[in-house]
Formats: sequence, structure tokens, C-alpha cells
Amino acid sequence: MPAIAPIRLGVNVDHVATVRNARGGRHPDPLKAAEIAIAAGADGITAHLREDRRHIVDDDIARLKDRITKPLNLEMAATPEMVSIACRLRPHAACIVPERRQERTTEGGLDAAGERETLRAAVGELAAAGIWVALFIAAEPAQIEAAAAIGAPVIEIHTGAWCDAVAAGNASAGAVEFERIARGAALAKGAGLEVHAGHGLDFVTGEMIARLDEIVELNIGHFLIGEAVFDGLGVVVRKMRAAMDRGRRKIGAKP
Ligand code: PXP
Repeated sequence: MPAIAPIRLGVNVDHVATVRNARGGRHPDPLKAAEIAIAAGADGITAHLREDRRHIVDDDIARLKDRITKPLNLEMAATPEMVSIACRLRPHAACIVPERRQERTTEGGLDAAGERETLRAAVGELAAAGIWVALFIAAEPAQIEAAAAIGAPVIEIHTGAWCDAVAAGNASAGAVEFERIARGAALAKGAGLEVHAGHGLDFVTGEMIARLDEIVELNIGHFLIGEAVFDGLGVVVRKMRAAMDRGRRKIGAKP
């Protein structure tokens, strides 16, 4: 039997920056989170530099690019500002996403079919800078064909609608969405595109989607950072308990 190629995991560290920015300052640092994720088996780190800098900021991208030992994937809108930042910092990869300021997260895929010229120009500039470019789209044939025509080497399939259906326990909608993703992944691979997927994935949907061998990379953020709170909170509360108890034993000592 031929060896099965492993599926890559890109860990999105945006929400470490969300927590940091709630207080200002430098803690928790998305770079430290990236290093922990890499030590735990992540194949790459993903970060979204949004136009409004609500979580990741420019300095995070510069430090991630300088310091991490695995590829950096920069999620970005196809604006002149972001294209210029990407071409200067040269992350390994860039994933072009739609961006609306009012949205809480990236709610849908790009309209690659409707924005061909803007996207073609952005993909061309990024590729000329040596960056491996993906377009974040729904698994719709028209979008996949447009992505191939634009000349992007990669698509990332938006898995949000499928994950929402699974989380809501809506089996029939989940099956329809999964089938759409499976057909889209096969179509894209057939068109010579590398296929990634992401948005809303958790342990259940991450395991299910890994069955599709056309998909070579998953990018996952919100669930991992949220789950890390549960897996890590007991450890850090124990450390704080110990620190306070040590302090108590030194009553009267000079600080
Ligand atoms: N892929 C892309 C292109 C995204 O925009 C996002 C969200 O930033 C993700 C993957 C990760 O989604 P989630 O945080 O829901 O795992």
C-alpha cells in the first residue's frame, strides 16, 4: 500500500493576541504560543493581520517571521497596504481572505469569480515576492474555477457552514455541506490546485475532514486557543497557588 501523506496543521494564534489586547501590554504573547504549538507538532503558524489590527499587529507578524522555525502563513485582505506589508516581510505563504470590519470573524469566502482582476493583481504581486498564495473560498465550482483562472496555486476551503451544521447537530445539513467540500476538494485538485481547509474546525470535524486526501493542510485557531484554556487552567492555577504559598512562608521578609 502506498504511504499516506500526513495532513499539515497550521495553528492560528490570532486569539492569543485578542486576549493580550484586552489589557494592552505584551502578555500573552502570540510568539510564545506559536513556539509551544510548533513544539507540540504544528507544521506551521497562521496569523491574520486585519485592517483594524483588532488582534495581531504588525510587530507580531515581523517577530513571528523572524523567530519561528516553521512556515508562517499570513492571512490578509487583498488591499494595497496588506500586499505591500506581505511583500516586505515575505512570509512563506499568504491566504487572501475577504474582510468586513463589522464581522466578528471571516464569515464567508472570497468572491473570486466577481473580483478576478483585483485578486489576479494581488496574487501576481505576492507570487513575484516568492510567497505561496491561497484564496479562501467556498467549495463552489464557480469559485474554484475562478481561483484556477486567476493563477493562485492554492485554495483554502471555508469549512464554517459545515462546522456550524455539525455543532448544531443538524445531520442532514452537515452531510450536504461535507459532500460539497468533498466535491470541491476533488474538483480543485483536478484543476491542479493545492487544497487547504479551515474555519470552525474542532476535534470532531478535524478528524472527519482529514479523511479527504485531496486536502493537505488545515488551519485551526479559535477552538485550539479556547480548548487550551481548559487544558491549561488547572496547571497555572496550581502554579499560582504554589507561588502564593511560598510568599506566605516569608511573612516579614524584605521583597
Ligand atoms: N482559515 C482562514 C482563512 C481563516 O480566516 C480563519 C479564521 O481566522 C481560519 C482558517 C481559522 O478559523 P478558526 O479560528 O475558526 O479555527
